[in-house]
Amino acid sequence: EPPVLDQVLATRILDVPDYPQPGVVFKDITPLLGDPAAFGAVVGAMAEQVRASGATRVAGLEARGFILAAPVALAAGVGFVPVRKAGKLPRATFREDYQLEYGTATIEVHRDAFEPGERVMIVDDILATGGTAVAAAKLVRDAGAVPVGLSVLMELGFLAGRDRFAASVPEAGIHTL
Ligand code: PRP
Repeated sequence: EPPVLDQVLATRILDVPDYPQPGVVFKDITPLLGDPAAFGAVVGAMAEQVRASGATRVAGLEARGFILAAPVALAAGVGFVPVRKAGKLPRATFREDYQLEYGTATIEVHRDAFEPGERVMIVDDILATGGTAVAAAKLVRDAGAVPVGLSVLMELGFLAGRDRFAASVPEAGIHTL
């Protein structure tokens, strides 16, 4: 129910100024994760987005995205695919380099993670610059599947991640709680 979710997002996600570096405001979701009613409401709402999209797989972003994406996949009744930071997956991968709000990174997915043409919902906690989500969508495409949606708890609107993601991945809808 929207008012309940609004309250969860307003009260269970904390702004931490100047972390991990001066000028950055970190969104701390640990209070949300520690409250089973709040966590359950969020997972339920994201799972409904997965069902509505027709996605048959949820791809989660390491690390904070994993915490949401795995229960969302189970609740939606679809499989979970980990998109990992470089060097963590044991078999053949596709990889993408990208820029973060603070720093750079590389993510990977197993080459055989998806069925050909499969519809995939990408799940993460935050959409900031959009660099991570765009890189994840490219990996989904590289692996032969279709990124049909991006589901996040919240957007940092001033970073224009939505516009960047929409321009790079027009086939995917953007779902924010
Ligand atoms: C954070 C967050 C998103 C991403 C959003 O992850 O969890 O994945 O940044 O930023 P962007 O839209 O500018 O790409 P981070 O890389 O800090 O890793 P973590 O989840 O392992 O803490």
